[in-house]
Amino acid sequence: MNWDALRLVRLSLPAKLLITLLLLTIGPGYLCGTANIYFKHQNADGEPGMTVDDLRAAFHGMTRTFQPEDKIIVNSQMLAEVRPGGGMREYLDRGGEPAVRGLITWLENAAKEEEFAQEGLAESGDPSAQAVIKAQCIECHHADGGDIEEIPYAATGTDDPEYKLVMVTAKPKITREPSGVQTVEIKPPSTARLVHVTHAHVMTVPVFTFVVGVLFLMTGLPQGVKLLLGPLPMLGVLLDISGWWIARYFESFIYVIGAAGGLHGATYALQILCILGSLWFGRRGEVH
Ligand code: HEC
Repeated sequence: MNWDALRLVRLSLPAKLLITLLLLTIGPGYLCGTANIYFKHQNADGEPGMTVDDLRAAFHGMTRTFQPEDKIIVNSQMLAEVRPGGGMREYLDRGGEPAVRGLITWLENAAKEEEFAQEGLAESGDPSAQAVIKAQCIECHHADGGDIEEIPYAATGTDDPEYKLVMVTAKPKITREPSGVQTVEIKPPSTARLVHVTHAHVMTVPVFTFVVGVLFLMTGLPQGVKLLLGPLPMLGVLLDISGWWIARYFESFIYVIGAAGGLHGATYALQILCILGSLWFGRRGEVH
């Protein structure tokens, strides 16, 4: 296709403004997405800070040793899900340390009804278990069409969580364990969950990558540069998403995921800069 007729620099002023505003929205929007990945996965291996182990834990699974402090261990399905390495931990982490302490302390104290709505169980100012579940969990765990309405904690996405519903998964199982080093197995997300996440990303990321890619082809850059830089962001997306699946079976693919994210971010940002430059500072007359 001959892009010369569509060169950015020849577009009308309204079109230039529209494209500029679009890029100013999705460029930083992409940065937020990256920051979100950081906050979501940085605790995947049970330690703060983003390392290769977080990718390993999030996409392949790993074993890790922790020192348990107590001989009596209260466990429940919910505790297993919100402890480091649990499938729901990432949602709890969104609430910050007070929320983590609030919910886990309540669960470890055997999830008593009279403490359900009580604030400050561990440290004053910590939210109650009920408030934490309301803020972090019921957007999906509610009976009225939530993502996971099979395990509801409230009637709707805005109601207060109900003790009876929460206890279905928070019911304590109390066991005595010898203290000392304990090895936990951190599992990657369930296939169902990965299908869900893949679906959500496939519907959005390639679309805005494509829009930016097409605009990039409308710059006045030489064909060789377009051929080299044009497909790279989309290649990054493809490697990234397929990496999530392949890394479940082949651990070394966690490096592909990391590299693909970097490739996408860098080339995508570069394309946006080229587009903005070409829109406002491109040379009108020349045709490549
Ligand atoms: C973004 C949606 C979402 C949020 C937010 C969420 N969950 Fe879940 N939860 C799910 C889905 C989907 C499943 C079922 C599939 C799975 O295990 O990944 C699930 C499963 C569970 C299970 C059962 C696991 C099992 O093996 O049956 C528990 C317990 C749980 N969640 C607790 C929580 C808690 C506690 C919070 C808040 C800190 C929370 N969830 C926040 C979506 C969510």
